Amino acid sequence: MVRDERLTTYIRSLEGPEDPVLEQIEQEAADTYVPIIRKETQSFLKTLLMIKQPSRVLEIGTAIGFSAILMSEYMPEGGQIITVEKYEKRIPIARENFRRAGKEGQITLIEGDALAVMQALDGSFDLIFMDAAKGQYIRYLPEAVRLLSDGGVLVSDNVLQDGDVIESRFAVERRNRTIHSRMREYLYELKHHERLLTSILPLGDGVALSVKC
Ligand SMILES: C[S@@+](CC[C@H](N)C(=O)[O-])C[C@H]1O[C@@H](n2cnc3c(N)ncnc32)[C@H](O)[C@@H]1O
Repeated sequence: MVRDERLTTYIRSLEGPEDPVLEQIEQEAADTYVPIIRKETQSFLKTLLMIKQPSRVLEIGTAIGFSAILMSEYMPEGGQIITVEKYEKRIPIARENFRRAGKEGQITLIEGDALAVMQALDGSFDLIFMDAAKGQYIRYLPEAVRLLSDGGVLVSDNVLQDGDVIESRFAVERRNRTIHSRMREYLYELKHHERLLTSILPLGDGVALSVKC
């Protein structure tokens, strides 16, 4: 999202090596065209987790488990993650990756559609990471707010759509117009929700950081 590629390359070059299993999974995701969080977003999440020290995390959009494993590395002792995925082909790969990383006891994968799963969940979460279908975030928002603890943090990824979000509806390709208008609606809601304080960051593909007040 930061438009200057050299700046992004420079920022990425400062990153040190990750846990070897995570590095392998990241490479496997690249080889199989599975979208996972970008390096800058990884660094942001790690730092946020260390500050927030969440005991319970909910992730919407597991893919093959990369970000769930990454987050689990930066949680306090005993911290638990619930992650939700509906794409059948990715679920066994994610489960295998949790096993490879030795995280089966810390990460619980729930299979199914995010909205239905969220509606069935109770208890509260200290951090929710929203990283699924961008056009659906607006539908998940009421459940996300309900499930967040007071002071809980909502991180929404890919909210600036590689810059498309600032374009007029008619400048966006026709097939992307629904997502475009839903994302603008989502960002408006995040900024005007009476229970949320939100900062929108041009980081990676755009990250919205909200806190429930
Ligand atoms: C960008 S990927 C997640 C990447 C992952 N968080 C990471 O960084 O390692 C988004 C995932 O959300 C899943 N997804 C999309 N819509 C969903 C829905 N309605 N319910 C559950 N999962 C969904 C997709 O199948 C995809 O695997």
